[in-house]
Amino acid sequence: MTELLTVRKLDVRHGKTIAVEQVDLSLAQGSVLALLGANGAGKSSILKAIAGLVDGQGEIIFEARDISRLSARERVRLGIVYVPEGREIVTDLTVDENLTLGGFFLDSRTLGSRRAKMLELFPEIAKHIRAPAWMLSGGEQQMLAIGRALMSAPRLLLLDEPSLGLAPLLIRRVFERLMRIRAESDLSILLVEQSFRMTLRVSDTVCFVRNGQIVGVRKASDLDASSSLAEVLEAYLGAAQPIAMAG
Ligand SMILES: Nc1ncnc2c1ncn2[C@@H]1O[C@H](COP(=O)(O)OP(=O)(O)O)[C@@H](O)[C@H]1O
Ligand SMILES: [Mg+2]
Repeated sequence: MTELLTVRKLDVRHGKTIAVEQVDLSLAQGSVLALLGANGAGKSSILKAIAGLVDGQGEIIFEARDISRLSARERVRLGIVYVPEGREIVTDLTVDENLTLGGFFLDSRTLGSRRAKMLELFPEIAKHIRAPAWMLSGGEQQMLAIGRALMSAPRLLLLDEPSLGLAPLLIRRVFERLMRIRAESDLSILLVEQSFRMTLRVSDTVCFVRNGQIVGVRKASDLDASSSLAEVLEAYLGAAQPIAMAG
């Protein structure tokens, strides 16, 4: 498989805090890579640096091109779309208007067909197409945030904790949809999650992040046996900072 994204020696600082230190990772086209780690480990900072939303030092190669000096907007144009944790949809706008925002760069014909595709993929939000987004439940808002990001048919989706604040049933639904998107498109996903089991189901590779560094990389299929779970968590994340095992 060809590499879509390669990150080399990425450092991110927030003031004096070193959030990310010498992170290397690569993502093959059409694959899903998950970053797993405790709160404050640096996962969001890695995604935001790739999206160009925070400054980072190091190389970010996307489709064989160094994009590390491009603006966030230019990266969106190349097909890199970030979905922040906490689903920052525009709650004053309707579901439809949120989708349209996500397709900002599209011509009206493509916009129409992408919109229809998103509504087919997320029937939960199709029901509320004219409603303001604040009226949606947490799970529906998450679907809308993902649907909006997918409007522009990105190449790389940077998905930050899609399960945050959702009940287990809804988490399962969001992940089901991600699996469907995976199966039906060539989209690559860099996923940040705390829900270990769900993550294993959708990912090809899992990178464990601790204190701003990647401390382990494993194939998701090698981590399936539940007997090894506790060991892995202990080894990579430390017993003091257990991540969510549920889901
Ligand atoms: N905007 C910011 N200003 C200052 N410190 C930040 C900022 N964002 C993140 N940090 C710090 O950087 C570290 C990594 O944060 P983050 O990337 O959000 O981790 P995660 O997503 O794994 O929870 C933490 O110590 C956090 O407090
Ligand atoms: Mg985060």
